[in-house]
Amino acid sequence: MATNTNVDRGFDLRARIDDRETRGLRRDLSPVESVSARSRIAGDPGAQQPVFGKRPEKLVFASNNYLGLAGDERVHRAAGRATASVGAGAGASRLLTGDTPAHRALERDLADAKGTERALVFSSGYAANVGTITALAPDVVFSDAYNHASIVDGCRLSDAEIVVYDHCNVQSLADAMAERAHDTADESWLVVTDSVFSMDGDVAPLAGLCDTAERYGAWVMVDEAHATGVFEDGGIVQRDGLTDRVQIQLGTLSKALAAQGGFVAAREPVIELLSNAARSFVFSTGLAPPAAAAARTALSIARNGTRREQLWANVEQLRDGLESLGFDVLGNTHILPVLVGDRSAAVELAAQLEEAGIIAPAIRPPTIPDGTSRIRIAPMATHTERDVERCLAAFERAEAVR
Ligand SMILES: Cc1ncc(COP(=O)(O)O)c(C=O)c1O
Repeated sequence: MATNTNVDRGFDLRARIDDRETRGLRRDLSPVESVSARSRIAGDPGAQQPVFGKRPEKLVFASNNYLGLAGDERVHRAAGRATASVGAGAGASRLLTGDTPAHRALERDLADAKGTERALVFSSGYAANVGTITALAPDVVFSDAYNHASIVDGCRLSDAEIVVYDHCNVQSLADAMAERAHDTADESWLVVTDSVFSMDGDVAPLAGLCDTAERYGAWVMVDEAHATGVFEDGGIVQRDGLTDRVQIQLGTLSKALAAQGGFVAAREPVIELLSNAARSFVFSTGLAPPAAAAARTALSIARNGTRREQLWANVEQLRDGLESLGFDVLGNTHILPVLVGDRSAAVELAAQLEEAGIIAPAIRPPTIPDGTSRIRIAPMATHTERDVERCLAAFERAEAVR
């Protein structure tokens, strides 16, 4: 059969990238030399190794390594021991031969911190959200408008009807539920929300969401990605005394717990279902044992050490300082979004901060609504008082919108 060489069924990737550029959506990678409060940063090297050269170290105020434990020697040693005794990788899915003592020990500690019967670790928080929502296969998901992309993708991949309620708005959820409640008593309903919202630094009204869900017999799933290890023993669910009212607690090991991976903490039958039916668990290699061991040690330090107090002291110093400089700081958590408004003003402010040695990126649409561009400041427990002062001085010098 003749081949028609005039037909091109390939992909015009240049046009797609150019289009992102035009819409201000193009991102560049920017390697850091180490994951810590201070690091040298290189430009995107493409296919080459990054060159950090003599560039001075910058202060990183943009990492989710909130407790600074990614650089902690105890965490490193735990990862090293697991590498030596268990292996660098799990070698197979947990359901085959990849289920190791490192996983089991971490899952026991996570269940203890979250006050549940069991926990199950996934290879990422993203995989945990997608796997959990699709395995539960609810008829209807009620999802906060600002939920993380991995929740959104989990909802989309499930066959559920998706009802988006207004951000952190219990009344909006109640109205949506009331509207659907007639003749649907046999439907399974899931309410899903982040606890701490990573771009707004605010906290979901969990008690009100639980009240509403309970009125209709719905289950509640809370993603504690940004709260685990930072609040109380477990997260916001524990802080607010809701352990027994939230059916599924989910989180990541890749933020305050300094490693990589995700988890679900819940009652035994939920974990049994997930280990059989969550495709991102069943058809994916088990979490790397060094990551499991590192996260377990980080969890123990978070629960028993003083890192949390150090983080909150830095948060207070920064929030007070920024507000007294006249900046509008959103939220009420350890994430400090400094509202700028206009997207190019936010990009300009981020550039000026970088010039002054502070790494804190501009967050722009479509990540957040138009007109609310911001700088997301995320302090770490390992920033010193002097580091925080340098960050504040950089904001003070910046000629940006106040
Ligand atoms: C709320 C939330 N859930 C889930 C995730 C995904 O976690 P991971 O990075 O472990 O895949 C993130 C990460 O940014 C997040 O912010």
